[in-house]
Amino acid sequence: MNEVMRQHVFGFNIAAEFIRKQLGCVPDCAVVLGSGLAPLAEGEAIKVIDYADIPAFRQSTAPGHSGKLVLKEIGGKKVLLMKGRLHCYEGYDVLDTVLPIRAFAKLGIKKLILTNAAGGINLDFAEGALMMITDHLGFNAPPVLWGANVEELGPRFPDMTFAYSRDMMEKAREAAKEQGVRLCEGVYAYTKGAQYETPAEIRMYKLLGADAVGMSTVPEVIAARHAGMETLAISCITNMAAGITGKELTHQEVLDTANRVMGDFIKLVTAVIEKL
Ligand code: HPA
Repeated sequence: MNEVMRQHVFGFNIAAEFIRKQLGCVPDCAVVLGSGLAPLAEGEAIKVIDYADIPAFRQSTAPGHSGKLVLKEIGGKKVLLMKGRLHCYEGYDVLDTVLPIRAFAKLGIKKLILTNAAGGINLDFAEGALMMITDHLGFNAPPVLWGANVEELGPRFPDMTFAYSRDMMEKAREAAKEQGVRLCEGVYAYTKGAQYETPAEIRMYKLLGADAVGMSTVPEVIAARHAGMETLAISCITNMAAGITGKELTHQEVLDTANRVMGDFIKLVTAVIEKL
């Protein structure tokens, strides 16, 4: 194992130990909040930890990502919310972006819900749709598992057939039905960012079978699956992808749409957590 990997392994282990001491419990599930989706972490918290205080954690710099772990009771469960995701486009090494996920796994958290803002490619979707990710195109993502395998987490060649938990997906379908929330389903393609895609790139992703596109989630899913966590991922389609409507894309539109569908998003995620 090289020095970078040794530091990384040391990092997620001490981060896990620090978080364990601060929380005094093992949360039932962790939720990573995407752009504009932070309001799920609002309200009464059991505990708030600043990333700045957690050994080895990087600071989130993306707008709307504040850099706090929030332990809250949601749907009768203890839920650890990651308010502030780390992206490679912030200049971080992919290992730094997945360090929190690996720390959660070491902490003993078995279930992970990832959320994100994404551009819609599938023409059946509209701005504001919620899409459960059933699979992904990750060829563009930086390699999470290159280098010496971290044996204490998982195998050298982890399966990705069931990267998205069938059981959690079924629970999300039931929760959506019960709550009267429309939940679309589709394939998410990873793009590096930070620029949005070109219309030609979007046509390529569409040809390859993508329904939505975004700059996160895939590295975290790979790290979670490697570590044996069960994962559910939900995209908020904040805009139709480049070239589809002919409009320019802006981050403000992403935040505005996420804000508009926040009610449904919170209802859905809360109902899913209740079922876990
Ligand atoms: N492309 C990539 N990432 C995104 C988009 C998009 O259109 N919308 C929100 N995140």
